[in-house]
Amino acid sequence: MRAIILGAGGQLGYELVSDLSARGHEVVALGREQLDITNPDRVARGIKGHEPDWVINAAAYNKVDLAEKEPQVAMEVNGLAVRSLAAACGEANATFVHFSTDHVFDGTKTEPYTEADLPSPPSAYAVSKLAGEFYARIYCENLYLFRVAGVFGPAGRYTRHGNFPELILRKAREGSPLNVVEDFFVAPTYAPALAARVIDALEKKIPFGLYHIGGGVSISWYHWALKILDQTGLRAKIQPTNHREYKTPARRPRYAGLSNAKIEAAGISPMPSLDDAVTEYLRRREKVQPPKQ
Ligand SMILES: NC(=O)c1ccc[n+]([C@@H]2O[C@H](COP(=O)([O-])OP(=O)(O)OC[C@H]3O[C@@H](n4cnc5c(N)ncnc54)[C@H](OP(=O)(O)O)[C@@H]3O)[C@@H](O)[C@H]2O)c1
Repeated sequence: MRAIILGAGGQLGYELVSDLSARGHEVVALGREQLDITNPDRVARGIKGHEPDWVINAAAYNKVDLAEKEPQVAMEVNGLAVRSLAAACGEANATFVHFSTDHVFDGTKTEPYTEADLPSPPSAYAVSKLAGEFYARIYCENLYLFRVAGVFGPAGRYTRHGNFPELILRKAREGSPLNVVEDFFVAPTYAPALAARVIDALEKKIPFGLYHIGGGVSISWYHWALKILDQTGLRAKIQPTNHREYKTPARRPRYAGLSNAKIEAAGISPMPSLDDAVTEYLRRREKVQPPKQ
């Protein structure tokens, strides 16, 4: 199959490109420099010109706190650009694959969120991602919409946005104090395992629609940091804190576990355990090359 990957320079984009290529698919990898998805004319021309079977959008504006200051920028990338992409896929009769987030939920539930739960986005970032979901659904019928959470992949060592494990490793090596909330939870999702399951879903042609793929286990941010430090053997000045002491501009879901039941029922294998994912992450991050300038 011929696949276009948008946001190919990000954590998930990097894994999608390498896994699709390894499986023998024809891959057109486009980073922001090659195609800015906020340009509707270039998006339409780019998709039509390549005649893809699959268009996979891993590009996103992920600055959750900054989005409170610049909600229009978040909406351009996460909302309006998705409209252009979905419309172009509809025109080209291509399958559109798009990613959303656990942040579309307010996090008041204490069990994993399912696809049937109603979103209630708590921030400008979350609203922009939910807008993208709606635009994708409206403009493209051949749609896979995957909600994911706390993505961490080896490429995050060098991406502009980075990821949580890289932040913890850097602070620990610097000897900087780390205060991490223990009353908010995340389902850390290993990017190579996520990419593999997305491609499995495409190859198996599971029914179009909305699917959750979270890391499989919900853990407090503090315990997530400890797990990373444990496996590296790094000593850090780390203290638990809570959301009253550690305030952020954007509201986040307190508990945002995602249920993988629907995607597993469609025949896609469960995600690896978090311990195994961290072990593999630490091994693979050593092999990732910095991008060429
Ligand atoms: N990371 C998480 O914890 C998380 C959690 C839940 C959901 N998700 C979703 O999962 C998907 C993949 O996330 P990720 O972690 O791989 O993100 P990432 O590492 O931040 O990568 C996003 C990529 O999109 C690119 N991009 C931004 N604006 C663009 C534009 N206008 N045109 C083209 N490319 C643009 C970025 O380029 P620059 O580097 O130049 O900005 C970056 O390469 C996204 O949909 C994200 O919202 C992520």
